[in-house]
Amino acid sequence: AGTQDLAGRHVVVTAGGTREPLDPVRYLGNRSSGKQGYALARTAAARGARVTLVAGNTELPDPAGVDVIPIGTARQLREAVLKAAADADAVVMAAAVADFRPAVYTTGKIKKIDGQEPEPVTLVRNPDILAELSADRPRPGQVVVGFAAETDDVLANGRTKLARKGCDLLVVNEVGEHKAFGSAENEAVILAADGTETPVPYGPKEALADTVWDLVTPRLAETHP
Ligand code: C5P
Repeated sequence: AGTQDLAGRHVVVTAGGTREPLDPVRYLGNRSSGKQGYALARTAAARGARVTLVAGNTELPDPAGVDVIPIGTARQLREAVLKAAADADAVVMAAAVADFRPAVYTTGKIKKIDGQEPEPVTLVRNPDILAELSADRPRPGQVVVGFAAETDDVLANGRTKLARKGCDLLVVNEVGEHKAFGSAENEAVILAADGTETPVPYGPKEALADTVWDLVTPRLAETHP
């Protein structure tokens, strides 16, 4: 076995993507595969942590020895994370959470009617769970980590986002049609609230996950009240 530097710790990881239903058969979703979050869960378990994995809409097998809580929507993810975070030493939010959801859920399938244009879809904001957790930590001293997928001005947008969300670490990566989503590899820069930047070269999502834990462990509270 390798290092057991997370032994005795409880970590919560979110993975995958949320789906926001429009009607019983349709949803607004995203391209997150869940691979990065699952890699975080596996590596944390390998380092001795008790792991709660809040997983949205992935097709990945449950990692061995990890407590998996399946969720569908952002609001379900929020509930599961806040509950699990109550006694967590660290929370890592790798899931792609929908910023918006349809304002109205139609209980029957929306039908097309001949000669009639479709109704526009109105969206409303979802709660920002990362910002909420960072501002009001369920357990004092817990480390909160966010992810940000950016398509341009990656570092500048990442710095702004880190400040706005109030988390301790933000893993920023550049995404595009052929980057990151669904792939087994990733490339990122990990920004810390103390100003440090840790570039992680293109490589397996497991390697990025281990670097995240390498940066989390020295920030963990010595003891908890
Ligand atoms: O603002 P943006 O969606 O780019 O932020 C991404 C980070 O914030 C991720 O860590 C994601 O899990 C989290 N997030 C959240 N709640 C939202 C949207 C994003 O916790 N409503």
